[in-house]
Amino acid sequence: MKIGIIGSGNMGRSLGLLWAEQGHEVFFGARTKEKGQAVAKFAELGTQGGTNDEATIFGDVLLYTARGVNPAEVLTSVEVLAGKILIDCNNFDIPEGFEFLPIKQSLAEKLASEAPRARVVKAFNTMAQEVFELAPRPLQDYQVSVFVCADDIEARKTVMQLADDIGFASVDCGELRYARLVEGLGDFIRLMIIGQLKNPYATISVNVLPASSEQRLGGRQPSNLS
Ligand SMILES: NC(=O)c1ccc[n+]([C@@H]2O[C@H](COP(=O)([O-])OP(=O)(O)OC[C@H]3O[C@@H](n4cnc5c(N)ncnc54)[C@H](OP(=O)(O)O)[C@@H]3O)[C@@H](O)[C@H]2O)c1
Repeated sequence: MKIGIIGSGNMGRSLGLLWAEQGHEVFFGARTKEKGQAVAKFAELGTQGGTNDEATIFGDVLLYTARGVNPAEVLTSVEVLAGKILIDCNNFDIPEGFEFLPIKQSLAEKLASEAPRARVVKAFNTMAQEVFELAPRPLQDYQVSVFVCADDIEARKTVMQLADDIGFASVDCGELRYARLVEGLGDFIRLMIIGQLKNPYATISVNVLPASSEQRLGGRQPSNLS
């Protein structure tokens, strides 16, 4: 795939490098052409670098890392986003004292309202950058979830494949409105990583267990507690 990175900071650099390692064509975009080119020089693997406008034109899939910034402020024209898959990996700022509030409008939904012709997909916001250092092996051995939401089913499947390509276990989370919950998971894992466990290698995954072969506890019964 042709992947454009919008903002080549920690997430942009790490994910771009991993995708390039898997044979995808990657263009690192940044606010200055020099920064984008410097990241591509560091990454090697045939990657290119330049401005965010150039990365956007290049990619069929775009990774958007400018937290909460309206794409109209990042790009010369948002029209170029029409039909492109736009991955939103962002989380809100961590509030003072980890006083997280319920999310009424996710960053991904905000991005979709600002780029209405793009196919916005929420993904990659529930693990710290350090985890990417383990990809694709040994990460693959741990089946770490990447929670993926989008209204456009084909875009969702494409991003799930991009997650699987680099050693994660993608989880189809349905429509983009569920990004509110996925961003809540992003808040929870940061509470663990930074506030409680203080370990950036802590992860969060959905595990589907094998069904029990017996009903020792009587099985699930209809509730009449109403
Ligand atoms: N780092 C993690 O462990 C991690 C994990 C999961 C999710 N996230 C989320 O992913 C997002 C990016 O995190 P990060 O660690 O990559 O941050 P970062 O290193 O600060 O990179 C963000 C990049 O966004 C671009 N940017 C910022 N403000 C901008 C603006 N006003 N206009 C245009 N571009 C702007 C910059 O790109 P250039 O300097 O290249 O122009 C900047 O380097 C955040 O929302 C974060 O919560 C981070």
